[in-house]
Amino acid sequence: MRAVIYDRYGPPEVLRVEDVPVPIPVDDQVLVRVAATSVNLSDWECLRGTPLYARLGGWRSPARRVLGSDIAGRVEAVGRRVTGFRIGDEVYGDNLELKGGFAELAVVPEKGLAPKPAGLTFAEASTIPQAGAIALQGTADAAPGRRVLINGGGGGSGSCAIQLAKRAGAHVTAVDNADKLEHMRSLGADEVIDYRARDFTTGGDQWDLVLDLVAHGSVAAYRRALAPGGRYSCVGGSVSALLRVLTVGSVTGRFTGRRLGVLAVREGPEHFAPLAELCVDRQVKIHIDRTFTLDETADALRHVGEGRARGKVVVAIR
Ligand SMILES: NC(=O)c1ccc[n+]([C@@H]2O[C@H](COP(=O)([O-])OP(=O)(O)OC[C@H]3O[C@@H](n4cnc5c(N)ncnc54)[C@H](OP(=O)(O)O)[C@@H]3O)[C@@H](O)[C@H]2O)c1
Repeated sequence: MRAVIYDRYGPPEVLRVEDVPVPIPVDDQVLVRVAATSVNLSDWECLRGTPLYARLGGWRSPARRVLGSDIAGRVEAVGRRVTGFRIGDEVYGDNLELKGGFAELAVVPEKGLAPKPAGLTFAEASTIPQAGAIALQGTADAAPGRRVLINGGGGGSGSCAIQLAKRAGAHVTAVDNADKLEHMRSLGADEVIDYRARDFTTGGDQWDLVLDLVAHGSVAAYRRALAPGGRYSCVGGSVSALLRVLTVGSVTGRFTGRRLGVLAVREGPEHFAPLAELCVDRQVKIHIDRTFTLDETADALRHVGEGRARGKVVVAIR
């Protein structure tokens, strides 16, 4: 089968398309003929090997040679302990542990997969697992009258989070670069901020809930941006910022009547399928910025990693 592989961390140029053996599903694994795989910032981070948490599986060289964790496709074969899926079923899911989505076939643990809703295309379904779980968990406390800020709102998770927070009745401020402000407004953001022109932590404004997809600032700055009783959660960013929030942040929060923490996103169908239902009902819009072919996977990763994507980017494998 054809797959996009890499052997060392680096720029998209380290990726190459090669014929490799078809993986064999064992025990609880399902072999999926991949129709579409969406790109996440985590793919870019694992390609570059930075931030350092992207090297958790392989310090010097990548542990998984094929990237791509959010896949959609058809079941091709099943391991002997698989009970929930049969050959030919249309599925989608999050394969963060094994990856392998930028290939014609990928093995996925059964527990990571869900039946693909008939109302979604393979490309649409592939955009949901990781971004959907982050957005649902990151906006769980949004409610009428609450002021919510989404930092990194123009990307994959942020585009869903804006819509979910608006659906919950919150007043939403979305932060990203100037090219994405219109996109964020179109998703319902009440206010938008260009992060290159203004730092949301310095203007004196305060929010009840801050969901930060790209944390780089100090604990003091994030605390300043929180209203009394408010909560700051980050899911991605620099390792130093995440560590500061985990350590100093949790203590500072306790003494100032605010909560600061890192959101450890729970994976699996129960955490992303509720978003798919909202997408099928067209209550949440899936915004696919661009679709690339398997041979163009390096360009797809570059498009996301260099920050040009509004919403999600998809690699259509077939
Ligand atoms: N905690 C967990 O359990 C967990 C699980 C899965 C994933 N993650 C992490 O969650 C993050 C998810 O991101 P995603 O997939 O939504 O990424 P994405 O699609 O790349 O979106 C990130 C957005 O943030 C913008 N941005 C970059 N720097 C910014 C800044 N300083 N201020 C405001 N916006 C900025 C980017 O735009 P430009 O770059 O164009 O400016 C981009 O639009 C990743 O870091 C991933 O590793 C965490």
